[in-house]
Amino acid sequence: MIVGDRVELNLFTTLKCNLACSYCTEADGGSLGTQGDVTYSIEALKTFVDTHAHKKEVVVTFYGGEPTLNPTFIDEVIEALPLARFQLQTNGTLMDNVSTETLGKFSNILISVDGGELATDIYRGDGVFHQVTEAVKSIHPLVDGTITARMTWSGSNIEVQDFLDLAATFDYVYWQFVQAQGFYSSDQMKKKKEVIEELVNLFFTADKFIPLIPIMGIVRNKLFPHRAIEMYNGQTQCRAATHLLNITPDGGIYPCPDLTHDQSLRCGDVTTNTLGENMLKSTSDMPCSKCEAFSYCRQNCLKNLHVAYTQKDILFRTNITEPICELVRFLGRVVDKHDIKAWYGRQPPSVKQEILECSVYEYVEIMP
Ligand SMILES: C[S@@+](CC[C@H](N)C(=O)[O-])C[C@H]1O[C@@H](n2cnc3c(N)ncnc32)[C@H](O)[C@@H]1O
Ligand code: SF4
Ligand code: SF4
Repeated sequence: MIVGDRVELNLFTTLKCNLACSYCTEADGGSLGTQGDVTYSIEALKTFVDTHAHKKEVVVTFYGGEPTLNPTFIDEVIEALPLARFQLQTNGTLMDNVSTETLGKFSNILISVDGGELATDIYRGDGVFHQVTEAVKSIHPLVDGTITARMTWSGSNIEVQDFLDLAATFDYVYWQFVQAQGFYSSDQMKKKKEVIEELVNLFFTADKFIPLIPIMGIVRNKLFPHRAIEMYNGQTQCRAATHLLNITPDGGIYPCPDLTHDQSLRCGDVTTNTLGENMLKSTSDMPCSKCEAFSYCRQNCLKNLHVAYTQKDILFRTNITEPICELVRFLGRVVDKHDIKAWYGRQPPSVKQEILECSVYEYVEIMP
């Protein structure tokens, strides 16, 4: 059941994709390509929203697979849900599939990259970075909302300059540490920490504000901790414990977009207008209550915690969850080296507002 007054519907318009990114969690879990276009009706979706999200704030994110492979469904949903806000999470290579009119309807567009050209083309395919950054430049004037780089930080081929270049092209940069094996050796951790330290120092000393969502979110949570509690009803900041419904093309509902292959987490169905208990839960087996990062991380990725401590996947825990938690704690410590109160006090009202209530916080996990 949905906790609180917000609902996020991640609608998988298809599970097909035109790319084959090497770390793709959906390919890894076995769901990618297993379903085509949506099979439930728009009427069924409307009935579901009227029943379960009545008088709640609804944000719809078009997700996939690659959502732009099914633009007709996107248009039908936008037409059917006049009270909702809309976001697109896309690999950005098929933006010509989306009409100018539709582009104007998105509050935010998340476009995936893996850092700069070098890393993006290694993991996503030759020429993808150029194609995507050119698309951003051409659609920017047509978009009324914001365009955010959704960067998956995987290998050691990512430099501080890559973040700055992304921040110059996009409105915001959100990064997430890759959830895959083989990216957290001691050498790779050392390199990631060096980049994090330099990036944070730059964030607090640059003349111009650098819109990096994870650092903005940590500052918000440290200065105004109630924001990290009230927006998620005191539960996990990734929203999976409270109000994130991931709806696959067949109408199945799951709490996490990365766990739609796990039938034990299926908690409802749009076709039958049902929504049951969310089995993706925070438990006392998870180490968060004793963690120094808890006040700002707030169990940012319930999937990483669930796989490591509920399913007790030891390799996932030691090679993915624990190193990512270590990087989250490191990020917090580096932020703490700066006088964030004084920094915030010096910012113009527009930057203060961004830190406090940037709308992108509602669409991404905030913490990496
Ligand atoms: C699964 S894709 C689906 C939407 C669309 N095809 C795209 O690439 O944006 C959504 C996001 O998940 C990210 N992602 C995929 N596998 C991941 C992993 N193993 N760890 C972290 N992020 C991952 C992708 O980079 C992308 O930004
Ligand atoms: S574009 Fe998105 S869905 Fe497709 S393979 Fe890459 S990460 Fe996976
Ligand atoms: S860093 Fe890890 S252990 Fe600490 S609160 Fe976040 S998810 Fe929990």
